[in-house]
Amino acid sequence: MGSLDLSENSITERKKVTVADLSKMKTQGQRIVMLTSYDYPTSIIADDVGVDSILVGDSYGMVVLGYDTTIPVTIEELIPVCQAVKRGASHPLLIGDMPFLSFQVSEEDAIRNAGRFIKEGRMEAVKIEGGKEMAHIAKAVANAGIPVLGHIGLTPQTATLHGGYRIQGKNARSGNGLIDDAKSLEDAGVFGIVLEMITEEVARAITETVSVPTIGIGSGRYCDGQVLVLHDILGLYPRFVPKFAKRYTDLASSIRGAVKEYASEVRLGIFPEEKHVFKMDNSERDKLEARQKS
Ligand code: KIV
Repeated sequence: MGSLDLSENSITERKKVTVADLSKMKTQGQRIVMLTSYDYPTSIIADDVGVDSILVGDSYGMVVLGYDTTIPVTIEELIPVCQAVKRGASHPLLIGDMPFLSFQVSEEDAIRNAGRFIKEGRMEAVKIEGGKEMAHIAKAVANAGIPVLGHIGLTPQTATLHGGYRIQGKNARSGNGLIDDAKSLEDAGVFGIVLEMITEEVARAITETVSVPTIGIGSGRYCDGQVLVLHDILGLYPRFVPKFAKRYTDLASSIRGAVKEYASEVRLGIFPEEKHVFKMDNSERDKLEARQKS
């Protein structure tokens, strides 16, 4: 990686990030920052801070809706989330995550559903899970004019098929398979590839092999960029914190403290205070009281 040139994406410049910009960032050795966002307030923050790309991921199903896995989440549930994120963020590249069975059935189905993310969700690209076996789908969607981000390694939508949530690329055979997956997706025309829970050595080899940017999640230090789930970095997902995620704050504790204080103040009659109430004009209050007395 070369030295960091922050001028391109600085908060002051406020330049819209495009797919071409991510490619340029790889060439220039500038690391790409991607983050999930599932609502208007956090997308405003991500935009303000200068995050390069926001992913409206299917992890929404787990961290917001409380499903056990990403499998149940639907396009109908994700589209309003995309719309809210779009309302808050105008600079980062916005990517919608195609949920389970929204793209696997056929190329036509995939194009139609990807189109919904663009037309209704107002996203600028879609993410599709899967390697070689999904390359024809990625190609069909890309050929329809919709930028596609690939996603290989641990692919949560098909984790059960591959023996659960396991680290990928632990031996040379599976490492070579992952490199082949990445090449197939590159040939299919994806603009980038998410590498999830892949050993650092294999992720590095993929990053050096393909010309498109790699975005790592649990795949070590040698990817072209990183993505994390916002709820993990904020300490807002109670079930578990993946080993690869860094918790930058413990928002759950802050929220718990605030909610406890509110509940206690209501019970003790401390809230609301004088400054929180609305008053009538004195003359109107007198008329009200006179009627009550009569
Ligand atoms: O849905 C999601 O959060 C994702 C990331 C893990 C890349 O797909």
